[in-house]
Amino acid sequence: MKVLLTGATGYIGRRLTQRLLEDKDAELRLFERDSRKVTTYTSAGAQVVEGDTFNKDSLREAVKGVDVAYYLIHSMEAGRGYEKLDRLSAQSFLDACTEAGVRRIVYLGGLGVKETASKHLLSRIEVGEVLSSRPDRIQTIWLRAGIIIGSGSASFEIIRNIVQKLPVMTPPMWVKTLTQPIAVDDVLEYLTAAKDLSVKGNQVVDIGSERMSFQEMLKQASDVMGLSRILIPMLLPTLKLSSYWFMMFTPVPTRVASRLIEGIRSETVMQNDNARRHFPDIVPMSYEEALRRALREIEENQVISRWSDSSAGEVSDMVDGDIAEAVFIDTQTMDLGEVRAEDVFSTITHLGGHRGWLRYNVLWRIRGVIDKLLGGYGLARGRRDPEKLRIGDSLDFWKVADLVEGKRLLLVSQMVLPGKAWLEFTVAEGKLTQTSYFYPNGILGRLYWYVTFPFHAPVFRSLADALVESSK
Ligand SMILES: NC(=O)c1ccc[n+]([C@@H]2O[C@H](COP(=O)([O-])OP(=O)(O)OC[C@H]3O[C@@H](n4cnc5c(N)ncnc54)[C@H](OP(=O)(O)O)[C@@H]3O)[C@@H](O)[C@H]2O)c1
Repeated sequence: MKVLLTGATGYIGRRLTQRLLEDKDAELRLFERDSRKVTTYTSAGAQVVEGDTFNKDSLREAVKGVDVAYYLIHSMEAGRGYEKLDRLSAQSFLDACTEAGVRRIVYLGGLGVKETASKHLLSRIEVGEVLSSRPDRIQTIWLRAGIIIGSGSASFEIIRNIVQKLPVMTPPMWVKTLTQPIAVDDVLEYLTAAKDLSVKGNQVVDIGSERMSFQEMLKQASDVMGLSRILIPMLLPTLKLSSYWFMMFTPVPTRVASRLIEGIRSETVMQNDNARRHFPDIVPMSYEEALRRALREIEENQVISRWSDSSAGEVSDMVDGDIAEAVFIDTQTMDLGEVRAEDVFSTITHLGGHRGWLRYNVLWRIRGVIDKLLGGYGLARGRRDPEKLRIGDSLDFWKVADLVEGKRLLLVSQMVLPGKAWLEFTVAEGKLTQTSYFYPNGILGRLYWYVTFPFHAPVFRSLADALVESSK
């Protein structure tokens, strides 16, 4: 069976790729906007077609000869107008699949009903409807999941951080609304099995474990984490206030928090029992077990993917061409002397997260708090893995834009800034070169550079020095 997987660099996609690679009966092809992000999978046997759902030629190339195509894409991070982009993207995908004679599309959407759905959920429903609109030509299996619990999922990170950080939790009243969480491993079970399902016609399959409120989820999480917590739901009047509440205590920025809150403010429970009918062998684990697994994966540094993995609207910022346009450039060069180049490179790729930035950590933290207050990520995302980095990984308020082992690490800033910024490290010919680039947006951007330069210059100079010193 030839299987096409889209969104293989996303939270669900990375995990599903690993599962599909283990399936000896499936020949896996990935459709990716940046093939450098999936080199581990191509070396494990997956083919890759580089492209974008808005580029019809690349889509045609990707679906050639395919039996089953997974659609794990969304444009939510693109901001205003994402609903239209999502409709167009789904329509192009459907057209390409029907033209190529693909037998089945498997799509993962969200739980909930149209009448009470949030704007984001409505868009997910629209995508499902578009993908299911040609039952005469192609079958669509539309799985619908609510809150997904797994290491690195946004909902799990919110729950874990709130419980860890707040002895007295005062969540908004909507925490009492019913929802039906599911473990990420169970979602993967359903997704994998969906390609082999022997059933005719389009199917909508709601998946989930036990029904519970977000309040019960917080309560069970504190029990599992062995923390005694007091929970007093409060009447927080607006979505904005609730999002700030999440933003302050968790790694997710306000826009992601508000999307999640909107999603769970109204009931999101299963509307059909097709999961039990079509997949009788899959028995979803309890919420408690899902939590234990997620915590164990974090402890053992086994986090495969995180909610911040996809580059979404920022993918075009990751190409090197943009750096050439930088207006302000600050370069620090250090001789390595006796220090081995590979040791210096290793120190570079271990920066951030719990280890911090070697020197002036207080200033890095203050910058993180400022970013958080402006609605950005701050330093709260840390690293996915304390030892390893890959292209696309988020690293504090940066994202890995390029990584050439032993030679170059390029970070693109995801801070809330009046411009674009990059930080590049190269190790070659006995030297470490560390360069920060900034492309200002108008006067405000230029002002930002001049105001922050007196702080930033010594911090970056000292960072280059520390990278060599601490590699001795
Ligand atoms: N995660 C959850 O908690 C959750 C819960 C319920 C349902 N779901 C559903 O599961 C699906 C996958 O979600 P996710 O959380 O895994 O998403 P994600 O982490 O945000 O990943 C999105 C993926 O889509 C790719 N992509 C975006 N636009 C594209 C385009 N135009 N062409 C090609 N690729 C594009 C991204 O590639 P880049 O790396 O290039 O950005 C990335 O691989 C979605 O339909 C979502 O509604 C997720």
